[in-house]
Amino acid sequence: MLPEGVLINGLTGEVSPGTGKYTKRLSELREIFQDQTELDRLVEVEGDPVVYEVIEYRKEGSDLFFGTTTMEPGKVSGEFFMTRGHFHQRRDMGEVYYTQSGHGVLLLESRKGETKVVRMDPGVCAFIPPDWAHRSINVGSEKLVFVWVCNVDAGHDYGDILKHGMRKIVVDRDGKDTIMNNPHY
Ligand code: F6R
Ligand code: ZN
Repeated sequence: MLPEGVLINGLTGEVSPGTGKYTKRLSELREIFQDQTELDRLVEVEGDPVVYEVIEYRKEGSDLFFGTTTMEPGKVSGEFFMTRGHFHQRRDMGEVYYTQSGHGVLLLESRKGETKVVRMDPGVCAFIPPDWAHRSINVGSEKLVFVWVCNVDAGHDYGDILKHGMRKIVVDRDGKDTIMNNPHY
């Protein structure tokens, strides 16, 4: 294994060289939004828009890997585009999110049910402690691009968030991103 410099484009999320990527479209994120009827309509009329793309850089045998998440701007009935959100399978492993461009909200929730919000603005490096669920939300009108760094063994546990959602939701109220209690939690 040799050291390497990896070029990250903070406006597009491109990683050179990247070693893998995936894209999430609106139709794949149905369960996480409040208004699923409106989501179905958007998928129909807007041709299933991309909500986010993840590109990673991973080297066999390393304890760390990193990558970018690039989120498109958008809303479903006022609820901003967001990631699925997850706990890590390994409860002793946290993560770092370093925002490159755009504006977002990082919604965090501990196992005990405490909620925290960290604004994702360019230059903000968010510390995600072990065993806090995390979901990123693009509240701006441009792409939200952030770099994440994580342990390769951390793993993802999507189950709890998919089942109950998170305690808070982030919606557009009179042109302002607003954090509200999730009525379905
Ligand atoms: C990895 C991590 C990020 C997210 C990505 C997509 O632990 O937190 O790379 O995986 O931002 O979010 P999810 O995985 O919640 O759909
Ligand atoms: Zn994570």
